[in-house]
Amino acid sequence: ERLAVFAHNLEVWYGQNKRALPWRETTDPYRILVSETMLQQTRVETVIPYYHRFLERFPDVQSLASAAEEDVMKIWQGLGYYSRARNLKRAAAAVLADYQGVFPNTVEDVRALPGVGPYTTGAVMSIAFNQPVAAVDGNVLRVVSRYLGIEDPIDDPAVKRVISEHTQRAVEQSTPRLFTQALMELGAMVCTPRKPQCLTCPIQDDCTAFQEARVARIPVKRPK
Ligand code: ADE
Repeated sequence: ERLAVFAHNLEVWYGQNKRALPWRETTDPYRILVSETMLQQTRVETVIPYYHRFLERFPDVQSLASAAEEDVMKIWQGLGYYSRARNLKRAAAAVLADYQGVFPNTVEDVRALPGVGPYTTGAVMSIAFNQPVAAVDGNVLRVVSRYLGIEDPIDDPAVKRVISEHTQRAVEQSTPRLFTQALMELGAMVCTPRKPQCLTCPIQDDCTAFQEARVARIPVKRPK
């Protein structure tokens, strides 16, 4: 019940407060893969023009799979982390070769695509296919560690597991494609690393860190 309220409050808030971002206009798994791959190491404002140019040039799996790598790199020029572009092209080739161009829709098959890790798998499964698979990135680790009042380091695998399990149970009580984006949007707009806007937060009432005045101390990172 606490989880269902958590998910519901987030989704209602998202419906009223979400930014209009180009990848929120689609549920095409290929487009979601492209956007989430770009967004993993690059900020939203930087990604937007690249997302448009990339999809104008490579509108579907077939066009990317058959593209020359140097043409893909030309479009990616300036985004950095160029292995992402090579992996995207390899993933498109795999969808074509192994699934006749029909994007796979199971956790196992999506996770097996080149360059696709647990986060991207969760993002594609939930946002594109509306399946309850948690997508845990840095934003989600921060939001959920505050919500649960966890002061153990979020880069500790055991702590990450606790947070992922909570997020997974919550997405199972939700509309996955809304919930995943709502958590990320809250992390980007309200539950920010510095100066979080707790007074406008839809889950403030139930947030352990807020209730105990520990928001500024969380998340904790492991000393290097
Ligand atoms: N960061 C990672 N994925 C995102 C998304 N779908 N929307 C906004 N920011 C994001």
